[in-house]
Amino acid sequence: MHLSVVKAILFSIYASINLCNSEKTTNLPKNVSVSTLIAFGDSFVDQGNNNYIKTLLKADFPPYGKDFRGGKPTGRFSNGKTIADILAEALGVKEYLPAYLDPSLRAKDLLSGVSFASGGTGYDPLTPKISSVIPLSVQLDNFKRYIRELKRNIGEEAAQNLITKSVFLVVGSTNDLVINYFALPIRRLQYDVPAYDNKLVKLALNFVQEIYKLGARKIAVFGAPPIGCTPIVRTTTGGAFRRCQDKENNAAQLFNSMLKQQLQVLASSLPQSSLAFVDVYNPLITAIENPNQYGLEVTDKGCCGTGTIEVSGLCNKLSPTCYNDSKFLFWDSIHPSEEGNKILVNHILPDLVHSLF
Ligand SMILES: *[C@@H]1O[C@H](CO)[C@@H](O)[C@H](O)[C@H]1NC(C)=O
Ligand SMILES: *[C@@H]1O[C@H](CO)[C@@H](O)[C@H](O)[C@H]1NC(C)=O
Repeated sequence: MHLSVVKAILFSIYASINLCNSEKTTNLPKNVSVSTLIAFGDSFVDQGNNNYIKTLLKADFPPYGKDFRGGKPTGRFSNGKTIADILAEALGVKEYLPAYLDPSLRAKDLLSGVSFASGGTGYDPLTPKISSVIPLSVQLDNFKRYIRELKRNIGEEAAQNLITKSVFLVVGSTNDLVINYFALPIRRLQYDVPAYDNKLVKLALNFVQEIYKLGARKIAVFGAPPIGCTPIVRTTTGGAFRRCQDKENNAAQLFNSMLKQQLQVLASSLPQSSLAFVDVYNPLITAIENPNQYGLEVTDKGCCGTGTIEVSGLCNKLSPTCYNDSKFLFWDSIHPSEEGNKILVNHILPDLVHSLF
C-alpha cells in the first residue's frame, strides 16, 4: 500500500479531535490529512531553539516545563505545551513539535516537521538583535538546510511534495511591539504606530513570499495578541490598578486588520497558496474579560512568582508558583499557560482548518 494511503487511513482514525478540558470538538474534514507541521517565529512556538544559542532569553530551567512530561524544562516558554504542540496534536501530526536545533533530532523527525522559532525574535531585524536571538532571515536559512536534509533522506521529488502539503505557522509581532516599539525609544522616534505596523506587515508578507518560493503553500500567519493586557505591560504602564493599555492594544489591532487585508491581496497573487490570517486577539481578550466562561480564575497575572513581571530568567527556580496553573490564563508575565494555549487553539482551529483546506 502506498504510504499516503496508510496515512489517510490512520488519519481517519484520528479525524475527530477532542482537546482535553474543552467542551468544543473540532472535526477536521475527512479527506484532510496533515503529515508535517513547520513553525517560524517567536516564543509562542519556540520549542527549545534558544537552548542552543547564546542569549539570556531562555526557558530551559524550572519552573518552566513544570507540567511538561512530568516536569521537564525544554525551552518552551510555558508550564506545558505550546500552541505548536497543541496544533501538531490537533492536526494529527504528532504529540510534540521538536526544535530544529535540538541535536537529538533524528532523520525521521524531520518528516513530520520542526520549529525554527526563537523566543524574542520579530519581523523587524532590530528586534532579534535586542535579545541576541535568531532573526527570521536565519530561520529561513535553517529552513533551506532542512529542505536539503530532507532531499538527501527521501529524494528530491518526495521532499518537494512534503513541503507542498505541510502546514506552516508564522508567529511574530509581539516582541516588535512590546519590546522594540513600546519599551525602547529608537523605533518610536522613527515611526508612528500606523507606520510601524505597516512596516511589520510588509516584513511579514515578505517572509510569507520567501517560504512560498521554497515550496510552502499552506501558511497560517498569526496576528498580534492583546499585548496591552499582558501582565508585564499592565505592571509597567498600567498604573496602580494594572489596567489593560489601549495604546498597545490598538497598535496590535491595527497590525491585525492590515495584516488580514494584505494577506488576502497577497494570496490572490500566489498560485495554489492558502494563506490564513489567525486571529488570536479576540479569543484572548474574551478569555481575559470572561475568565469564568473558560474555567479560569486569574487572567491579569502570570502563575510564576508574583505574576506581575517575571518572564524568562526572572521566572526561575526561586520563584514560587500559583495554586493551580490551570486556573491561570498566563504562565509568566507574557506567555499563556498550557491551559491558555489549549483554550486558544480550540478557538483558532476551526477557522484555520477552513482557510487552509
Ligand atoms: C475535501 O472534500 C471537499 C468536499 O468534497 C472538497 O471541497 C475539498 O476540496 C477536499 N479537500 C481536499 C484537501 O482534498
Ligand atoms: C486545577 O484546576 C483544574 C481545572 O479546573 C482541575 O481539574 C484540577 O483538579 C485542579 N488541581 C488541583 C490540584 O486543585
